[in-house]
This record gives sequence, C-alpha cells and structure tokens, in this order.
Amino acid sequence: MNIPFVDLQAQYQGIKKDIDKAITDVIAETAFIGGHFVKDFERDFESLYGVKHMIGCANGTDALYILMKMLGVGPGDEVITVANSWISSSETITQTGARPVFVDVHPEYYSLDETLLEAKINSRTRGVIAVHLQGQMCDIAAIKAICDKHGLFLLEDCAQSHFSEFRGVRAGLTGVAGSFSFYPGKNLGAYGDAGGIITNSDELAEKCRMFANHGALKKPDHRIEGINSRLDTIQASILSAKLPHILEWTEARIRNAGLYDRYLKDIPQICLPRVRPESKHSFHLYMIRTPHRVELMEYLKAQGIETAVHYPVALPNLPAYRYLGHSPADFPVASRLQNEILSIPMYPELTEPMIANVAEKIRTFHSGRR
Ligand SMILES: Cc1ncc(COP(=O)(O)O)c(C=O)c1O
Repeated sequence: MNIPFVDLQAQYQGIKKDIDKAITDVIAETAFIGGHFVKDFERDFESLYGVKHMIGCANGTDALYILMKMLGVGPGDEVITVANSWISSSETITQTGARPVFVDVHPEYYSLDETLLEAKINSRTRGVIAVHLQGQMCDIAAIKAICDKHGLFLLEDCAQSHFSEFRGVRAGLTGVAGSFSFYPGKNLGAYGDAGGIITNSDELAEKCRMFANHGALKKPDHRIEGINSRLDTIQASILSAKLPHILEWTEARIRNAGLYDRYLKDIPQICLPRVRPESKHSFHLYMIRTPHRVELMEYLKAQGIETAVHYPVALPNLPAYRYLGHSPADFPVASRLQNEILSIPMYPELTEPMIANVAEKIRTFHSGRR
C-alpha cells in the first residue's frame, strides 16, 4: 500500500466540481488581478475565523515581511523568534534590516519555550514572532503577557495552524496580527502560492493592504513605496471553494491523530506528539520522535510510505545564520530534536486501514531495536 505524505489528488477528487468551477469562473470574467473573487475570500475568511480584517497577499513569507515593515521594524532592531521553524519566520526579520534572535523550543510541545523568552529581551528588542508549528499553538497567553510587560509587539505565524486554538482563542487573534500561508500542502491550501494577514486593528490592516499593493489603496494614490504582493485571483477563488470544508477537514485530522495515537502506543522507542492542555491542535503535522530517524525514514520509503522532517536543521544551526556565531549547544532542545523528529503521513483523507498500516510498519521496524 503506497501512502503519500500529503494527498492533494484525493482532496481534489472530493471537490473537483467546485474547484473546476472556481477556476473557470475567474477565466470567464477575465478577472485575473484583484476584483470580487479576492474580496469574497477575504470576507468569508473573516466571518468564519472571527476576525475583523483578512488581507490576502502573495504568500505566508510576504505576510510576515509586510507586517513587520508596517510595525516599523528596521535596522538596529531585534525581533525574537523560535529556533525550529521554516526559515520564513527568521529571514523576513533580516529582510527588514533587523536582527533575528532565537529562543529554544519547548521540550514537550516543540514550539517557542515561553520560559526562555524574557532572557532574550534587551533595549533593541521590538517584538516577538511566535510560530504555532505543526498545528500546535504556543502558550500564547504567557508570551503575550511577557510582550505586554516589555512593550513589544506580538505576531503569530499561523502558517501551520489554521483554526488551531489555545484556551478557546484561535491562532493569530492574541497578538496584534497573524500571518497565514495557503501553500498547497497547508491545512487550507491554494493551487500555488498564496498567503494572508489577519488583524483586528483597522490602522494596521489599512497599512498592510497599502504596502502589499505598491503603497496605494487605490491607483495612482501611492502614499508610500510598497511591494507587489497580491493574492492571485485564481488562488482566491480556489480558496473560497475550499473554505466551507476547512472545519470538517480539521476534525478529520484530529480524528486521524487520535487513531495514530491508538495504533502507535506502547512502542517504547518512539515519542508521540503531546497536545498542549487547553488547546486544539489542528494537526498540520503528526510528528513523532525516534532515535532511529534516518533508518526509519528509509525503511518506510521502501514500504511505499512517504515521510518528511520539519525541520532537519534548526534555524540557528543553518549556514545562513553562521554570522550570528551560535553553536548547537546554545539551543540544546532544537539541536537534539532536529535529529529525532519525523512527520508521518497526515491529511483528512487518510483512512483507518492506512493509519494502521503505517503504524504496523513503524512497530515492526522498532521491534528488536533499543
Ligand atoms: C511556519 C511557517 N512560516 C512561514 C511559512 C511561509 O509560507 P509561504 O511558503 O506561503 O511563503 C511557512 C510555509 O512553509 C511555514 O511553515
């Protein structure tokens, strides 16, 4: 049985009529840039998510960059983020001219360890980007309290956490804004690059909308210089077709995670993902830990099961950040996890026999190993 890591074809087959219509509708109107399809998606996302503003943009990386630029981050500033994430969370800090400062990850939940945050704050610190990796939210309440105490902005990178919750509050709604990626494999994914910003601040929303559109809310009124980071209209139309399914897809991911928990329990060599108390994990990823990561990946691949690593090198250990002068010992948890974590297939369309099959292979591989 071949089991891909993500199966976008299975999802497409389930909603083919709606997706095909979403694309042909845009072509029929030759409404390729902006227009009502983008506005419709933004409005529908706002009402389903419970937020005042959604500003579509080209991708999740731009969403972070736009936000920091509009919060006034620039040369001489520092912005704190987490040691294990996709590089967008830190490269966008550098893009503004500021310096990224990394905090190690929590040993149990693998996201920014809030207990280590305060020690990284100094007079140059402007804000914090909390990344809700895998669908699991950080302790965003504790992080917010620290940010408030020190007068820092809090941004939430929600690229992997659409509709995740902590204490009943959705990802992106505690800080001043949240950023989303709609990269195809994300929980809500377009058919190409796409992203968005959410905020309840009218002022920040207007600034972001302007900056993402060459500094103009309306042509040719360029009040500032900006960038071209529009949400593509065909992508917006596809996202609108998918949006009505997102809650049911999230529940299917949670159900599948529960099945993995059941089928994988009692394998002493592996660690299963732990859900932070009082939170709703949207299981973008189901990440296990094993001391035999490389061999397990190869074994599963030979059995037709695709896996991935998020991420194989913690950010401060990447060549791109050598200039910061860190050693892996500065981030002991992230540096250990990078060799042990493994994301196994996770998507709503996985069936129980598929999950049982993956689990059985993982169990067989570990039997007889220490
Ligand atoms: C945590 C995180 N932040 C930011 C991004 C950037 O999103 P995009 O690929 O849409 O630029 C991603 C996407 O992989 C991500 O996983």
